[in-house]
Amino acid sequence: MKIETIFGSLQDQELPLLVVNLFKDVKTPSGATGLIDDLSGGLISKLIKDGEITGRKNEMTLIHTMGDSFKNFLPNRILVIGLGKADDFGYNEIREVSATLARKIESLKIKKFGTIIHGAGIGGLDVSYSCEAMVEGTLLGLYRFDKYKSKQKEDQDHHIDEMQIIEIDKTKIEEAQKGIKNAKIFAEANISTRNLVNEPPNVMTPKKLADFAQTLAKNNDNLNCKIFKKSDLEQMKMGAFLGVSQGSNNDPYGIHITYEGNKNDIDDNIWLIGKGITFDSGGLSLKPSFGMETMKSDMSGGAAVINAINAISIFKPRINVHALCLATENMPGGKAQRVGDVVKTMSGKTIEIMNTDAEGRLTLADAVEYAKKNRAKRIIDVATLTGAIVISLGHGNMGVFTNDEKLVEDLIIAGSKRGESLWRLPLDDLSSKQNRSKIADIKNTGGRSAGSITAAHFIKEFVGEVPWVHIDIAGTAMKNYTDGWIIEGATGLPTRTLIQFVLDVSKKT
Ligand code: BES
Ligand code: MN
Ligand code: ZN
Repeated sequence: MKIETIFGSLQDQELPLLVVNLFKDVKTPSGATGLIDDLSGGLISKLIKDGEITGRKNEMTLIHTMGDSFKNFLPNRILVIGLGKADDFGYNEIREVSATLARKIESLKIKKFGTIIHGAGIGGLDVSYSCEAMVEGTLLGLYRFDKYKSKQKEDQDHHIDEMQIIEIDKTKIEEAQKGIKNAKIFAEANISTRNLVNEPPNVMTPKKLADFAQTLAKNNDNLNCKIFKKSDLEQMKMGAFLGVSQGSNNDPYGIHITYEGNKNDIDDNIWLIGKGITFDSGGLSLKPSFGMETMKSDMSGGAAVINAINAISIFKPRINVHALCLATENMPGGKAQRVGDVVKTMSGKTIEIMNTDAEGRLTLADAVEYAKKNRAKRIIDVATLTGAIVISLGHGNMGVFTNDEKLVEDLIIAGSKRGESLWRLPLDDLSSKQNRSKIADIKNTGGRSAGSITAAHFIKEFVGEVPWVHIDIAGTAMKNYTDGWIIEGATGLPTRTLIQFVLDVSKKT
């Protein structure tokens, strides 16, 4: 979709559709909507009076401008979108409304539309951020994954080709353009994550994920990518990760992408580590078949860190960033790891396998050790780690755990800027005892209680003193409904949060 700014007045645009807005309970429209009201001899006011337009959030009223009411008015249609209460209006509402609106326009089979910048008028919001939120909402809200549908071609004719952001104040145009530019980078990264996660697991194998990362880095001068084969991983003694992979016929791969934004100080770095299980059957501790298809999303963390570092590099922040993903399937083949096995991690610590379905933490243990051996100074790990996080937090928040107050605070703020919520959970000493093994250094399950906390404690055991945040995204990587800019299926979380976070942190240091 082509997205551009147009400097000019609303009535002079030859467009099939022009979008204006209204806050809830506003009786006399002002600004752009007021202008339309004037040009139409009070039509909008009349519809408000009749109760047809209320300004309720996501309300959409389509008005055709043919006939005599509209004088000297070029757009063929007007769509008045409700923004909800002015007091509740922020960038998330802009994203939500823009996404709902974009799907409506698509369903009307309209290929080009113009819009004012929502929120920047009486809403009092920043022009650039408002514009950014509008474009993010539009692009993310129009997402679909239909490449495996044979009929997809016909549908494609209905895609919107062009979005015009119309602004009469010339001083605001540059700000608006900055917003558009940023939004595209953030949205594209998120969409790329969604695409990887939505791919079926017979396609998105560890090898495929590694190939994706390598191609991404090859096409980006600011990134370097190292791919580790099974023999490399063996040489590095990643016993926990290899243990998980041994039940599969598809080889495991290690993916390490670097962005060097501060070559003078290699210790000024952040490591983004993503869980990369391309399919989690549970292994010998086999999962029930109901819902097992969603376990293709068990590489969501890996997909997020790969796409985040790509987007980060475009902004060229002055900081070094590493993205790491150890990719494998968790399968119950004849060579599969047993329950009761003891494996030795890259760090030398031993783990007793109590449940082969608690595989994520095993792969993360070796990933974290690899990061530490490579001088990691800050670690963020992202993992669809526990079903327990779905029980405690549901689908609205990612769970976060940390050994560093400042780091988690910055991450939560970054998430809130992008409409991705993170909720802090504790790492209490009592729960950590649940991971004690009778025969090895640690065991990979901690019993039924505090399942997400014991999983986080397990990772912490390997992280040690390095400032670290663990994000459990098991409840948020996939959604089974469409709502605003989130489309049923993979959500692409927390790709945008990670980008925002690194940009924020790089400005502070
Ligand atoms: N990948 C799953 C967690 C998961 C659950 C992701 C729901 C997405 C949605 C993880 O590997 C897993 O199986 N965890 C187990 C751990 C248990 C065996 C200690 C779980 O949560 O049941
Ligand atoms: Mn599992
Ligand atoms: Zn898993």
